[in-house]
Amino acid sequence: MAKMTVEDLPLEGKKVLMRVDFNVPIKDGKVGDDNRIVAALPTIKYVIEHGGKAILFSHLGRVKKEEDKPGLSMKPVAARLSNLLNKPVTFVPVTEGKQLEDAINQMNNGDVLMVQNTRYEDVKDGKYVKRESGNDPELGKYWASLGDVYVNDAFGTAHRNHASNVGIAQNIGAGKSAVGFLMEKEIKFLGNAVDNPERPFVAILGGAKVSDKIGVIDHLLGKADKIIIGGGMAYTFMAAQGKKIGNSLVEPDKEDVAKEIMEKAGDKLVLPVDNVEADAFKNDANTKVVEGGIDDGWEGLDIGPKSIAKFEDVLKDAKTVVWNGPMGVFEMPNFAKGTLAIGKFLGSLTNATTIVGGGDSTAAAKQLGIADKLTHISTGGGASLTYLEGKTLPGIAAISEK
Ligand code: 3PG
Repeated sequence: MAKMTVEDLPLEGKKVLMRVDFNVPIKDGKVGDDNRIVAALPTIKYVIEHGGKAILFSHLGRVKKEEDKPGLSMKPVAARLSNLLNKPVTFVPVTEGKQLEDAINQMNNGDVLMVQNTRYEDVKDGKYVKRESGNDPELGKYWASLGDVYVNDAFGTAHRNHASNVGIAQNIGAGKSAVGFLMEKEIKFLGNAVDNPERPFVAILGGAKVSDKIGVIDHLLGKADKIIIGGGMAYTFMAAQGKKIGNSLVEPDKEDVAKEIMEKAGDKLVLPVDNVEADAFKNDANTKVVEGGIDDGWEGLDIGPKSIAKFEDVLKDAKTVVWNGPMGVFEMPNFAKGTLAIGKFLGSLTNATTIVGGGDSTAAAKQLGIADKLTHISTGGGASLTYLEGKTLPGIAAISEK
C-alpha cells in the first residue's frame, strides 16, 4: 500500500510537525555542505505556501554527554535555512517545555520554526538516557501533542527507530502522518532501481569493508544482472581467492563469506583484475600497477587501468546503475583515478538511470565534480544501504497508509 504524502494532508492553519534530516557538517559554527537542507526545501515551501505552520525537528551529530551539546546546536542550521528560504526562521534553543510551546502558539500561518537538536534529549542531567535515540514513548507522545499533523521528509534518518521520526508518527493519530517530497523521490529512485529496474541493472559496490556490504550484496544478487566490486573490500575477495594482498586492507574473518558470495554469484560478480599499489598510505608514496596480487610490503589503494576498462565494458550497456562506495582512496588525488574514471563513465551514460547511494560515494561524486551528471544522488548514507539490503525503514513504515 502507498504511504500518504504531504499533498494528502490538511495544512491551512495547521501546526505541521516536520522531521527533516539537517544532520549537516558544521565548521567554526557555520554549515558546510547544505545539500540536505536544500533537498528538504520543496516540502517546507509547500507546507508554508499552503498556510501551514512549519515546526521543524532534526538531529545533528551524536549527543552522548552534556559537553557535546554546544557544538551541536541547530542555531547555525536555522540561520542557513532562513537564508535559503529568504524569510525568518524562529530558532527555539530547547526541545521541550514552555519556551517551545509558547513559541509554537505564537506562530502565524506560513511561519517556520526550528526546534533545538532532537538528540539533546539523549542526555539529561549529565546522563546518557537516549530518550530520542531509544524512541522513548513519552517523548514521541509529547512532541506529537505539539502539532496537528506530521510530515517526515528525513530520508537520511529513515533507518533509525527514534522518537522524532517514528515516535511522533506513532502518536499523531491515524491518517495524520505523511512523507514529504524528498522521501517520495528517494523511495521512487531507489525503490524502482531495486525492485523494478530497467535492465541490464548493474550495482557498483566499493568502500572499505565487506562486512558493511554483505547484506547489500546478498540482496542485490537476486536483483542485479552484475555486481562490480571495488575499493578496500575487494582485497578480502582477493585474499579469499588465495591471492597475495600485501599490507592491503582486509577482514580475515570475512574471507569465508567472500568465498560463499563468489560461489553463489558466479559470473555476476565482477572483481578488479589489476590494482595500484603503494609503499605507504600517503599521496606521494611510490606506486606501481600490478596484476594478480599485491607485493609484500605494499598495499593496494586503487583499481588499475585494466579494471577500469573491464568495469566500463560491463557498464556500457547498463540501463540502471546503483553506485555505493568509492573504488579506491579517493581522498588522495593519486588514488582517486579509479573512482573518478567510473564516476565520469557513469556521467556519460545518457540512456541509463544512474543513482548514487549516499555516504562516501556522494562525497566522491561531489569532490570529483561529477554530481550533476548523475540522475539521483541520495541524501541517505546508512538509510540507502538499509534500503538496498531490502530491509524495512522504520521512519517510512510508521507513516499512515493512503
Ligand atoms: C546520517 O547522516 O547518516 C543520518 O543523519 C543518520 O545519522 P546517525 O547515523 O547519527 O543516526
